[in-house]
Amino acid sequence: MSLVLPLAICGMSTIEGAMAACSDGLVNVVFNGPSNSAQFPQKFSQMPGASNWLTFKFGTEPKQIPMIGNDRAAVKKAIDAVNGPNPPDYLLTFNEPDHDYTTGKVILTPHNASVLIKPLLESPGKHTKFIAPVPAAQMSSWLDNFFKECQCKDSFAAYNVHIYRGNVEDAKAEINAFHDKFNDKPLWITEIGPGNRTTACPNPPPWNQTIKFMQEIYAWGQSKEWIHKIFWNTGNQITSHVDNNVCNSYLLDGNDKPTPLLNPFNHLTCS
Ligand SMILES: *[C@@H]1O[C@H](CO)[C@@H](O)[C@H](O)[C@H]1NC(C)=O
Ligand SMILES: *[C@@H]1O[C@H](CO)[C@@H](O)[C@H](O)[C@H]1NC(C)=O
Ligand SMILES: *[C@@H]1O[C@H](CO)[C@@H](O)[C@H](O)[C@H]1NC(C)=O
Repeated sequence: MSLVLPLAICGMSTIEGAMAACSDGLVNVVFNGPSNSAQFPQKFSQMPGASNWLTFKFGTEPKQIPMIGNDRAAVKKAIDAVNGPNPPDYLLTFNEPDHDYTTGKVILTPHNASVLIKPLLESPGKHTKFIAPVPAAQMSSWLDNFFKECQCKDSFAAYNVHIYRGNVEDAKAEINAFHDKFNDKPLWITEIGPGNRTTACPNPPPWNQTIKFMQEIYAWGQSKEWIHKIFWNTGNQITSHVDNNVCNSYLLDGNDKPTPLLNPFNHLTCS
């Protein structure tokens, strides 16, 4: 058989030098708010490499995956959205309920979280897939206790973690450790960056090291069929305060100018 047919079938991907592509939906981005959140759709338009975005304030802008806040009013908004005329495909549930960074305290106990989420799980709509709460410390007992309290593990389509490690091998090890514990559903990584709790800003890792981390973690994520989405943190620079986790991983700076990371992000090949 000639080579013509397979080449035609495979199209671009067989042409020498053509880039491999990340699988559909894998590459996504986080915007840190709430300040300037009205600008997130415009910022997202500079990130054609990403499929979806999230932020911490509930919203249903195009391509946004909504997240519920840790209170009753937010749960009510989510119930309205999933039962409304345009229900979102996915809904992220509680964000880091186990740890308040300013007080060091638990925001919602597993018991309180299970009480709070119950009305939503009882009126889930017909379309939206729910993503499990994401603890700040993914290996803490919060999630185990939450599932025990609410008896609602089956209500979730995927687990969810946040990972910050200065080197990619440590990041992979943490993700693997979580997956070893919770391996019966796919995983979403809804925050990741090469910052970590030991190296403080303003001495962030150099940009080229961050680019390498980003390319490696997406390539690795692509190779694991149980990892469905990875949200790079962050699309926008945080200018209101210092966040050690993301001090050199923003795609747009405070003046909306691309950083050295934007172009590599838009051209990730996951290979
Ligand atoms: C849990 O709920 C109880 C009863 O409403 C409330 O008193 C308590 O402050 C809540 N605590 C947390 C951490 O969720
Ligand atoms: C934090 O980052 C530094 C510099 O990249 C690295 O040497 C160290 O191993 C990292 N620590 C953790 C816990 O990832
Ligand atoms: C980043 O650039 C510095 C200075 O040019 C170089 O020493 C270092 O090896 C580079 N690191 C990576 C990961 O490419």
